[in-house]
Amino acid sequence: MAAQAIIFDAYGTLFDVFSIGALAERLFPGKGTAVAELWRDKQIEYTRLRTLSNTYKPFWEVTQDALVFTCRKLGLDLTLEAQTQIMGQYAKLQAFPENLPVLQALKAAGLKLAILSNGNPEMLEAAVQAAGMQGLFTQILSVHSVQKFKTAPEAYQLGPDMLGIPAKDTLFVSSNGWDVCGAAWFGYKTFWVNRAHAPLEELGVTPNGQGQSLTDVQNFVLQGVGR
Ligand code: LAC
Repeated sequence: MAAQAIIFDAYGTLFDVFSIGALAERLFPGKGTAVAELWRDKQIEYTRLRTLSNTYKPFWEVTQDALVFTCRKLGLDLTLEAQTQIMGQYAKLQAFPENLPVLQALKAAGLKLAILSNGNPEMLEAAVQAAGMQGLFTQILSVHSVQKFKTAPEAYQLGPDMLGIPAKDTLFVSSNGWDVCGAAWFGYKTFWVNRAHAPLEELGVTPNGQGQSLTDVQNFVLQGVGR
């Protein structure tokens, strides 16, 4: 079965969310990693709570709320200045180094590329700009238009609706195991970029492909396994 399009998750897959750990470490010595990890977990937890209870608000605000909670929980004094600095860094996260050439190669091979993310449109535009990825994606899809975060089926439905390609002919690429499961449940083919060397989630899903970086996605797709 040919993959005609590839949809990428954004945070953690294209943009390095743990790259803010260094700034957090400077602001809160000895606690940088703890802040980055708890912040990420809380952020995702809040997206799920808000989707389950139908209380959507934009990912930027959810992210800020999660940061405030994280610092409180870790007993850290989050000044307004520190909050502005950390959120400013989040707005222009570094991309993983291999991403740009891989995306260029996939596009050159004739595949439609898109992003489908929990991030609100302004965040995604800023991140794509900061990473120099303008012009590579046919669509930058935000769950903001359906007001439900992944793993709600309405969020994944944006792919076929906006690209005009069925989910079964689209490869969904994410570094988040839970996102891979949500996408597979919806009907996409999936590739797990397991950057963190995490165990597979116990959710009854086996991704069609897996690897450690976007280079592995390129090999999977262009060497014929996914096409
Ligand atoms: C996203 C988060 C889940 O970009 O990584 O949707």
